[in-house]
Amino acid sequence: MRLAYGILILSFSGLGGAVAVTGQQAPLAEQQFKNIKSFKGDKASDVIPAMQFMSASLKVDCDYCHTADRASDDLEPKRAAREMIAMQREINKTHFNGRNQITCATCHGGKIRPVGVPPITGLEVRARRAATVVADDVLANYGKAMGADAASKVAGLHLEGMSESGAVKSKVEATYSGSKFTFTTKGAKADNKMGFNGTMAWFTTEKGIQAVPLQYAVHYVNEKTLFVGLDSLPKLTNTSGGTAKIEGKDNVVVTGTGPDRTRVSLYFDKTTGLLSRSSFSYPTILGSMTQINDYTNYKKVNGVPLPMKIVNHASEGDTTIEYKSVKVDNKIDPISFDPPKS
Ligand code: HEC
Ligand code: HEC
Repeated sequence: MRLAYGILILSFSGLGGAVAVTGQQAPLAEQQFKNIKSFKGDKASDVIPAMQFMSASLKVDCDYCHTADRASDDLEPKRAAREMIAMQREINKTHFNGRNQITCATCHGGKIRPVGVPPITGLEVRARRAATVVADDVLANYGKAMGADAASKVAGLHLEGMSESGAVKSKVEATYSGSKFTFTTKGAKADNKMGFNGTMAWFTTEKGIQAVPLQYAVHYVNEKTLFVGLDSLPKLTNTSGGTAKIEGKDNVVVTGTGPDRTRVSLYFDKTTGLLSRSSFSYPTILGSMTQINDYTNYKKVNGVPLPMKIVNHASEGDTTIEYKSVKVDNKIDPISFDPPKS
């Protein structure tokens, strides 16, 4: 904020003795400054500290909102800030007895554009739109990287490994056949199982099997799905291309609308063409919830590259799954994906 203080001193020195202070009364903002709309009736001495507060809340310099002439309304952010000041005051007057409870900092938290989704790791990676990245090309490239007939080469899979969630480590077993799967987390007392048979998702609870219609279970189906080839990826409409860096690596990104208005972004490693991240934003009536999966440690199974490490980032925290063994089994009985009878 060194710059801000420098400008602060300048803006005070520029005032000279031009302001006539009558009696003991402190001058009002509009008496001391040239173009005051928001702070009419406030003390002139409150204006600059408010400027510092706004700068700090958005983590910007004075010049983000101002040209050299601080009284000019040329810049859009200055005009936006006036609306924000009015909004902040309105919210606090209506809901918090006029106390400054909701402020620029509450919403902006050091960012120019506030984030409207619950915080999760990985969300800070932002895909930048890039007209040079063509969604169809990226997807075709992924298809090539996976190899011809990827899905049929690994039509059935048994995987075993470990999952780590917070301090809890567990053995896990998974079975996949296309979009169908079962996923078992071994517990000290009982195992937690979940699955998807193509139409119905289910999981075990202490009281037995809970079957969940797909519309409510898409979150964990998307989380657990093992994408194997183009046809396994969610079908997106209104796609756009972008770029992003994940842990220093260049990615190309395809973003679009998936089923049920879900916003989906698929990140592909620029060098290998393989899927490195999937991001799903589920709309609720109050805002969107985001879930991110990172796929790394690709290993060829029957010639098909499969991620051996999958990290799921969600608001509740991260879950890391690392598979140690993979067996191809193209004769898995489809019935095994149904909820167990109990
Ligand atoms: C987020 C946008 C924003 C930032 C950042 C910002 N200002 Fe302002 N500034 C405004 C707005 C809006 C007004 C007009 C207030 C009003 O209408 O009462 C204003 C008014 C002023 C004025 C009064 C100009 C006049 O004569 O009417 C001065 C001086 C000023 N700002 C200085 C600063 C300084 C110094 C900084 C950096 C510490 C700063 N501003 C940072 C939005 C901003
Ligand atoms: C209740 C939440 C909330 C509060 C409080 C709030 N803002 Fe905002 N502000 C937003 C949102 C949300 C946007 C983004 C709107 C968009 O993306 O179109 C925004 C956008 C802006 C922008 C435009 C950014 C740009 O250049 O695109 C500025 C400048 C800004 N706010 C300044 C402020 C200042 C200064 C304050 C405090 C006086 C403030 N905001 C208080 C939520 C808030």
